[in-house]
Amino acid sequence: MKITGNTILVTGGTSGIGRGLAEALHDRGNRIIVTGRRQALLDEIMAARPCITGLPLDVNDAGSLAQLSILLRERFPALNVVIANAGISRAEDMASDSWTSADAEAIVQTNILGVVRIAAATLPLIKDKPDAAFLATSSALAFVPRADFPAYCASKAFLHSWLQSLRHQMRRFPVEVLELSPPYVQTELTGAAQASDARAMPLQDYISEVLQILEGGIAPRGELLLERDLARRWAERDNHYDAIFNVMNAI
Ligand SMILES: NC(=O)c1ccc[n+]([C@@H]2O[C@H](COP(=O)([O-])OP(=O)(O)OC[C@H]3O[C@@H](n4cnc5c(N)ncnc54)[C@H](OP(=O)(O)O)[C@@H]3O)[C@@H](O)[C@H]2O)c1
Repeated sequence: MKITGNTILVTGGTSGIGRGLAEALHDRGNRIIVTGRRQALLDEIMAARPCITGLPLDVNDAGSLAQLSILLRERFPALNVVIANAGISRAEDMASDSWTSADAEAIVQTNILGVVRIAAATLPLIKDKPDAAFLATSSALAFVPRADFPAYCASKAFLHSWLQSLRHQMRRFPVEVLELSPPYVQTELTGAAQASDARAMPLQDYISEVLQILEGGIAPRGELLLERDLARRWAERDNHYDAIFNVMNAI
C-alpha cells in the first residue's frame, strides 16, 4: 500500500490502534477522516490536528452509515483507502448460569457486521480509485483463541476468512485488501487496565511496526502480522496448535 498522498477513512479512530494509525498516517501526508461514536474524542483529535476530519459514526446504526456515505461522496471524492478497525471485546463465561448471548450478539454486530457494512458502504467509492486499499483489523487471536473471549476470537476468525474471499473477488480491481492482526496491545479495548498492562505491546511500537510493514510492502497474502505472531498464525500447519492453545489457556 502506498502510504502517502491518500484520502483515508479510519473507523474506530477515536482511540487506541485506530487513532494511532490515523495520526501516524496523517504525519505521512495523508488526508484523514476518523470516525467513532464519542464526539468529545473526535473534537479533541480535530483540535489537536485541524487537518483531520472527525465524523460521528456508529457502525451498528443504519442511519449513521447512510449519513457517512453521503458525506464521503460529497466531501471526500478522493477517498481511496478504508481502514475498518472499529471493534469491541468482552470476556464471557459460558459455563456460568448467568451467561446470556448478549455479549456475543454485540460482538457479532460490531466486529463482524460492522466491518461488512463498512465494506458495503465504501467499496463502491474506492473500487476504481488509484492505489485503493481496504484494511480490516482482525487479531492474532483469529488463529488460536483465548477461550475466555469466545465470541471475540471467533469474530476475528470470521474476518480472517472473509478478507481472503474479498481479496479474491477484488483481484480485477486496483484494491489491495489487507488484514491487520494485532497482538495484545496497550489500549483500553478490554478496559483501562489493558492500557498499562506490561504484557501488552506499547501502542506506539505496534503502530511503528505496522507502518514499517506497509512501507516495505512486506505483507505476504495481505496479512500484516508481526514476527512474534507467526507461530500462532501457523500453529495448525506446524502441528503446534494444541501446545499453543494450552499455553494460552492455562488455568
Ligand atoms: N488492543 C489489542 O490488544 C487488540 C488486539 C487485536 C485486535 N485488536 C482490534 O483492534 C481494533 C481497535 O481496538 P483497540 O484495541 O484500539 O481498542 P479501543 O481503543 O477500544 O478502540 C475501539 C474503537 O472502536 C470504536 N467502536 C466501537 N464500537 C463502535 C461502534 N458501534 N461504531 C463505531 N465505532 C465503534 C471505538 O470508538 P467509539 O467508542 O468512539 O465509538 C474505538 O475508536 C478492534 O477491532 C480490536 O478488536 C485490538
